[in-house]
Amino acid sequence: MRLWIAGLLALAACSDDKYSVERLQDPNTCLDCHAQHYKEWSGSMHAYAADDPVFIAMNRRGQRETGGELGTFCINCHAPMAVLNGTITADNAADFDPNKLSPAERGITCYFCHNVEKVTKDHNNGLVLAMDQTMRGGVKNPVDSPAHDSAYDPLMKGTVNNSEMCGSCHDIVLPNGVAIERTFKEWKQGVFSKPDSKLTCSSCHMKPTDGVIADREGLSVVSRPLGFHEHTFPAIDQALTPWPEMEAQAKGIQEILDPSVGIIGPKPRTGTRSPGGICLDQPGILTVRIDSLNLGHSFPSGSAFDRRVWLEVTAYRADDSIVFQSGKVPAGTDPDELLATTDPRLFGLWDRATKSDGTPAHFFWEIAAVDSSKLLTGSVTFDQNDPAFDHSMTARYNVPSFTEIERIEAQLFIRPLPYKTLHSLVQSGDLDPAVIPRMKTLTSEFAKSTWLKSTAGTGLAAGTNCNPE
Ligand code: HEC
Ligand code: HEC
Ligand code: HEC
Ligand code: HEC
Ligand code: HEC
Repeated sequence: MRLWIAGLLALAACSDDKYSVERLQDPNTCLDCHAQHYKEWSGSMHAYAADDPVFIAMNRRGQRETGGELGTFCINCHAPMAVLNGTITADNAADFDPNKLSPAERGITCYFCHNVEKVTKDHNNGLVLAMDQTMRGGVKNPVDSPAHDSAYDPLMKGTVNNSEMCGSCHDIVLPNGVAIERTFKEWKQGVFSKPDSKLTCSSCHMKPTDGVIADREGLSVVSRPLGFHEHTFPAIDQALTPWPEMEAQAKGIQEILDPSVGIIGPKPRTGTRSPGGICLDQPGILTVRIDSLNLGHSFPSGSAFDRRVWLEVTAYRADDSIVFQSGKVPAGTDPDELLATTDPRLFGLWDRATKSDGTPAHFFWEIAAVDSSKLLTGSVTFDQNDPAFDHSMTARYNVPSFTEIERIEAQLFIRPLPYKTLHSLVQSGDLDPAVIPRMKTLTSEFAKSTWLKSTAGTGLAAGTNCNPE
């Protein structure tokens, strides 16, 4: 009896009429029938994760500076199949070169996400694969596929899961216990993890549309209502070397960024909410209120120790001469420099990472502590009477000569990585300098606002000294 069951299990584990596991691990195999999924994924940071030159440079340098202690730590998330298959081990991780990997092991592949059997940890990639021929997804009644077995798995279904599949890779805890990436943790603390208002990682990052999900001649598939989930995953990072779908990715980034962070207000002075937008109050207090909008976590999130988000504020006289300015970061430099020298009031959002001696840290393996108090947090409640309802932040400046001000402009800027980190990687011989000018400074349309003396306090701003927008 035992033997008979064992035999049956072995059969179930490997069906001969489907493609082999080896063949299924290659994303090009999926291209045949899921061309649209493939196209979108190919331009995503998931596909780029092993090719990202900054990743390669940091891994190489980290290996050197830790005497190899880093091992497969980084590659386990950026090219997980290469580690699972044993191609990359602690012994050769220092020479990591994506060009030596087969497509099956390069980046975060289709097979990796679609073969997850269980999630064992909420950080550092605790995903365990079945290593079988079954592709798991959110489709309950898939038609037969000649390539693979299919299975509906709640872990994959964005409307029912608890973000644990994505989350396990999106939170990083260093060996010294410092939680340097906390997107999943932030989500769990926020309102979108609550049953009544649940929106998971995929709810926001994999927009569904109607459509066929497998498209090849001979397949009897029909269009599924909201059956196709976007696989582009845009947010902040873009490919820094020639890569598929670069234009689409750049467009996707602007589309998700624009409505997600803004200079907000004005709001009535009720409850605990402060007035909004740009305000100029006696005796020369200039404030700018900004907020995250519809974010399931902080802003910035993830690599928040690398992100640089800052507010540029300029107050002008009637003749356009400048009365006051903060956050005017010269091209090619980081806001950190201004903050430490001539502009201590600069409003900057990023994780302040420090080494054990308290000086700024730029690399994972140097980080001893992280101060995450300077991030915009996501919503924790929808109850307007709850003090936690307001998660905005207000930049505040003293401008003694405020009576001269006729116009104030404020705008938020975002850079994926500091120049200092990039230059340091170039200096150590790990990064091609040509990469640096390819990294773009981003902004958000909503995070741009103008205050005019002539219109302040009018319309919605009545009763305040704020701009009416
Ligand atoms: C020969 C065609 C073919 C190939 C090749 C193929 N698939 Fe599929 N796949 C299908 C069909 C057909 C369906 C079912 C579509 C339907 O029911 O609308 C499907 C469904 C799926 C599902 C949904 C499963 C569920 O129940 O939620 C996933 C996930 C999937 N495929 C992933 C992949 C991946 C990853 C690859 C590459 C390793 C791949 N497929 C290769 C034809 C194919
Ligand atoms: C980062 C993880 C991840 C990667 C990489 C990934 N997928 Fe998916 N995919 C998902 C998730 C999650 C769903 C289910 C979404 C839902 O139902 O809420 C999904 C759904 C699907 C489906 C079912 C139809 C649909 O759109 O819901 C197909 C088919 C599919 N993916 C194919 C692919 C192919 C082919 C690739 C590679 C070219 C790929 N996926 C790469 C996470 C991933
Ligand atoms: C194997 C680990 C892994 C899994 C599983 C995973 N991700 Fe990622 N994700 C990454 C890595 C690594 C990057 C960054 C790659 C790079 O930029 O070098 C990334 C990038 C992203 C980005 C782009 C971030 C940016 O700033 O541009 C988004 C959005 C994202 N992932 C969402 C998701 C969602 C949603 C899921 C679940 C459906 C998911 N990820 C599953 C590892 C993972
Ligand atoms: C309520 C919608 C929502 C939910 C839920 C959500 N996100 Fe996001 N996320 C966004 C938006 C909007 C942005 C865009 C801002 C931007 O471009 O950075 C973003 C940005 C990101 C970024 C880039 C952050 C950065 O600053 O580098 C990552 C990575 C990410 N999300 C992953 C996740 C993961 C993983 C989950 C689940 C644990 C998740 N998101 C849940 C809306 C959401
Ligand atoms: C637990 C999984 C995980 C591990 C381990 C990991 N990463 Fe990442 N990495 C991610 C995710 C997720 C993102 C996307 C975060 C975001 O967009 O905010 C990312 C983004 C990046 C980026 C692009 C964004 C940035 O910070 O500039 C680089 C470069 C990078 N990682 C390098 C590394 C290096 C080097 C290591 C090892 C020292 C490492 N990663 C370890 C998951 C991981």
